[in-house]
Amino acid sequence: MEYLEIKGGSPLCGEIRIQGSKNAALPILSAAVLHRGITVLRNCPKIIDVTYMLEILRDFGCHVDWEGEDLVIDASSLSSCQVAECYGRQMRSSIMLLGSLLGRMKSAVVSYPGGCVIGARPIDIHLGALKQFGAVFTEEPAGLRAVCQKPKGARICLPFPSVGATENVILLAVLAEGTTILENAAREPEIGELCRFLNSMGAEIQGMGTSCLVIEGGRQLHDTEFTIMPDRIVAGTYLLMTAAAGGRVCLRDVPVEQLGSVLDAASEMGVCQRARGRDLEVWSTGRLKAVGELSTRPYPGFPTDLQSPLLAALASAEGTSVVKETIFEARFKIVEDLQRMGACIRVEGQSAAVEGVKYLHGEELTARELRGGAALVLAAVTAQGTSRVLQYHYIARGYENIIRDLQSVGVVVQSR
Ligand code: EPZ
Repeated sequence: MEYLEIKGGSPLCGEIRIQGSKNAALPILSAAVLHRGITVLRNCPKIIDVTYMLEILRDFGCHVDWEGEDLVIDASSLSSCQVAECYGRQMRSSIMLLGSLLGRMKSAVVSYPGGCVIGARPIDIHLGALKQFGAVFTEEPAGLRAVCQKPKGARICLPFPSVGATENVILLAVLAEGTTILENAAREPEIGELCRFLNSMGAEIQGMGTSCLVIEGGRQLHDTEFTIMPDRIVAGTYLLMTAAAGGRVCLRDVPVEQLGSVLDAASEMGVCQRARGRDLEVWSTGRLKAVGELSTRPYPGFPTDLQSPLLAALASAEGTSVVKETIFEARFKIVEDLQRMGACIRVEGQSAAVEGVKYLHGEELTARELRGGAALVLAAVTAQGTSRVLQYHYIARGYENIIRDLQSVGVVVQSR
C-alpha cells in the first residue's frame, strides 16, 4: 500500500505558493455547462477531484483540454445529462451538477452521493430548494432523475446555509425564467467566487457576500476567461502546520481576507503573522498555547475543514483546548491516530477536549478522508521521529502536491 514517510520534529523554513481553490473550482466547472461556448479557467488546481469533474464533463460531450496552465472547456455540444455512476460514487460533489444540468438540459440523472467518513451528507436541502423551481425527482436504478421543463425563478429560504445547496440554486436560477431570491444562502467565499464567475459570463447576480442573493434569470451567456481564487483551506493547513512545527514560512498568494477566524485562533495560540498583500509570513518560536474553547461555524466562523488540522496542532500545545464541531456529525475520526502518537484527547459527542502534551511521537497513521489526512500529515511533521501516512491518495483530492509543498519548507518526506 502506498504511504508517505515523514521525518518529523524539525522547524519549517521556506515558502509555499497556495494553489487555486478546490471548493471554488468544482462549482465553477459545473457552471461551465450552462453556456453553449468556451470557458477558460486560470489557476485551476490540478487535484483528483478536478480530474474527476473533467472526466464527467467529457462524458457529457464537452471538449476539455489543458493548454499549459489554462483549462479550456467547450460546452457547445452537450449530448448527455447523466452523471455516470462510477463518478457519482467517487465524488459526492458531483451533486452540484444537478442545478446546471437542469438549467441547460431541463433534466439530469445523478447517483445519490451517499454519505462519507465525516457524515451522512444528505441532500434534502438541495432537493427541497430545486423543487421550488418546478423540478420533479424520481428514483431510478441508474440513480436520481430530475426533470424541470420550464424552471421558474422563486423566492427560496434555505433551512440551513448549505454550501452545495446554495450553489445548486444559483446554477439553476441563472437560466430559469424570472427572478430568484435566495435567503439564508451560504456566505462561504466560494459562493461569491461562483457568482463572480457567472457574472463574467453575462449572468446578473447581486448580494454576493451576504446571505440574500438575487439572481435575474434568462440572461444571454457568453464566453469568459476567469482566474480562480487561492484555496483558503490549503493556506490555513500550512499556517497551522508552521504554528505546530515551529519555524518561519512565507505563504504566497493567500486570500488573507477570507481567513479572519483562522488568523484570530492562530494569534490566540501565540503564532506570529505578518500579511503584505497576498503574502502571509508566519512564524512560531515557542510552544503553542491552547485556544480555550473553539467551535466550527458557517463562514465567517472557524471553517469545519480546518477543524482536524487545528486538533492536530493543539495536540502538542500548552494547556487544554475544547474544540466543538457544529457542521458535520462525524469529524473526529483522526483522534484515534493522534492518541497512538501520544496525544491526550477525549471526545464527548460533538466536542473534543485536547490536553496538550509536550511531544507527539512518530507512528503508522491511516488517512480516511481529505482534511483528516492533511491533519495526520501535520501531526507527523510536528512529531518526534518518523511516521507513515497510509492511503495518502485522499490528500491528493484537495492538495495539488503536498510532497512538493512540504519539501519546499524543509520537511524530509518521501512517498513509498
Ligand atoms: C461543502 O460541502 C464543501 N465541499 C466541504 O468541504 C465543506 O466542509 C462544507 O461545504 C462546509 O463548509 C465542497 O465545496 C465541494 P454543506 P457541502 O451542504 O456543500 C448538512 C472539503 O474537505 N446538509 O454546507 O456538502 C450536511 O450534512 C469538503 O473540501 C443537510 O443536512 O456542505 C452538513 O452537516 C468537506 N442536507 C451541513 O449541512 C443537505 O441537503 C453542511 O453541509 C445539505 C447539507
